[in-house]
Amino acid sequence: MNSESKPSSWRNFPIKQQPVYPDLQRLEQVEQQLCNYPPLVFAQEIRDLKQHLAEVSAGRGLLLQGGDCAESFADFHANRIRDNFKVLLQMAVVLTFAGRRPVTKIARTAGQFAKPRSADFEEVDGVTMPSYRGDIINSAEADPQARIPDPTRMLDAYHQSASTLNLLRAFAQGGLADLHQVHGWNMSFVEASPSRERYQDMSDRIEDALHFMEVCGITSQTAPSIRETQLFTSHEALLLNYEEALSRIDSFTGKRYNCSAHFVWIGERTRQLDHAHIEFFKQIENPVGVKIGPTISDDELIRLIDALNPDNEAGRLTLITRMGADKIAEILPGLIRRVQKEGRNVVWSSDPMHGNTVKASNGYKTRQFDDILRELRQFFAVHQAEGSYPGGIHLEMTGEHVTECTGGAYQISDSDLSTRYLTRCDPRLNADQVLELAYLITDSLKKSV
Ligand code: PEP
Ligand code: CO
Repeated sequence: MNSESKPSSWRNFPIKQQPVYPDLQRLEQVEQQLCNYPPLVFAQEIRDLKQHLAEVSAGRGLLLQGGDCAESFADFHANRIRDNFKVLLQMAVVLTFAGRRPVTKIARTAGQFAKPRSADFEEVDGVTMPSYRGDIINSAEADPQARIPDPTRMLDAYHQSASTLNLLRAFAQGGLADLHQVHGWNMSFVEASPSRERYQDMSDRIEDALHFMEVCGITSQTAPSIRETQLFTSHEALLLNYEEALSRIDSFTGKRYNCSAHFVWIGERTRQLDHAHIEFFKQIENPVGVKIGPTISDDELIRLIDALNPDNEAGRLTLITRMGADKIAEILPGLIRRVQKEGRNVVWSSDPMHGNTVKASNGYKTRQFDDILRELRQFFAVHQAEGSYPGGIHLEMTGEHVTECTGGAYQISDSDLSTRYLTRCDPRLNADQVLELAYLITDSLKKSV
C-alpha cells in the first residue's frame, strides 16, 4: 500500500464543522507524518466487510454497529475497551439467535474522536471560547487556550486507535469471544426486569443450542467460529485532514482505501451534496454510511445515494436513519418506497439514538429507553410493511455502568442521571440497557426474516 496521489480534491469544496488551525505549518507536518505511518487497517479486511454488508443488503445477515459517542484520551483503558467489546458481542449473540442470521459487528471505536457541534463558540461561566470538537481537535477543558485546535492531537488519536485495534484483534482471536463465555457474561438486568421469564427462557435456549452443538462435536476446540469472531472498526469521517492522510492506494487492486477504519460514515450535518465530505467519500472504496435525519426529501435521498454509490454496488452504502420515535412512521415509508422504485441497493440501518435526545428536568442531555425502543420497533415494522429489509442497528453504548439514558429495567430516572454520567458527548445505553433492548426487539427480528 502506498499513499501516493492523496485524495485532496475535497479541499476545493465548501466544508462544514472543521477546526480553524492557527498553526498551518504544524498541520502540514502532522499530515505528512500520518501519510508515512502504517495504515490502521488492511484493504483486504475492508473488502471483506463490504462483502458482509452486501449479504446484509440482500437480507442474509444483520449489521450491529455500536460504541461510544466520542472516544477520549483521558478514558483510554484496557478495561473500557474490553467491556465495550463484551457488550457488543453479547448483543450480537442475542441478535444472531433471534434473527437466525449472521451478525456483522462494527465498533464505533479506534478513531471516533471528532464531533460535529451546533455552534462554533460557546460560553462557559461568562467566558466565550471555541466549542469542544472532540479530542482529535481540541481539549474539552473549559479554558479558551485549551480549546485552540492543535494538529498534534491527530497523532495522539492515531496512536490510541492503533493500540485499541491491537487489543480488539487480540480479544477477537484470542479466546475472549468464545461463545460459551459471551453467553454467560451479564444477565443481571434480568433480575430487575418485569419480563424476566421471557428473557430467561431465551437465555436457556441459547444455552441448550450450545450444549447440543458440543454433543455433536462442535466445540471451541474443534470450531474456530465458536472461539473467534471478526470485529470491524468505524467512525464518523469528519476531520478530513486526518482521513486524507490515512488513505492509501492498495497495491493489489490499485484502488484507494481510507485505512483509518474499515467503515466510515458522514454525519447528518455534513452530507451536503456539493460539499467536501461527499467529495472525499467519492475517492475511497470503503463501505460507507450516511446519516439520514427527518428533514430529507426522497429526491435528495436518491441524489445522495447516487453520489455515494454511482455503480449501485451492494455493500457499499448503508443508510443510517435517525428520525426520532415520533417521526419515523411518517417519514420512513416514503423514503423506502422511492429507493425500492429506483432499484437502489442499500443497507438500511436504524440509529434510534440521535433523533431522541432530550433535556432532562435537571438539565442533563439524555434519551429515554422507551423512545429508543419505540424508534427501533417502528423501523422494523415499517420495513416489514413495505416489503423492505431492515438490515442494521446503530447504537451509542458502553460496557460501563453509566446512568446517561433514562428508563430500562432499572428504571433510571432524571434524578439518577448525575450518579454516573460520564459521556464526553451524547448519552449512551449501559450494558444492561443494551441487552434488554436486544431481547425486546427479538420479536421484531423474527418477523423480518
Ligand atoms: C453521531 O453519530 O455521534 C452523530 C453526531 O450523529 P448525527 O450525524 O446523526 O447527528
Ligand atoms: Co452522538
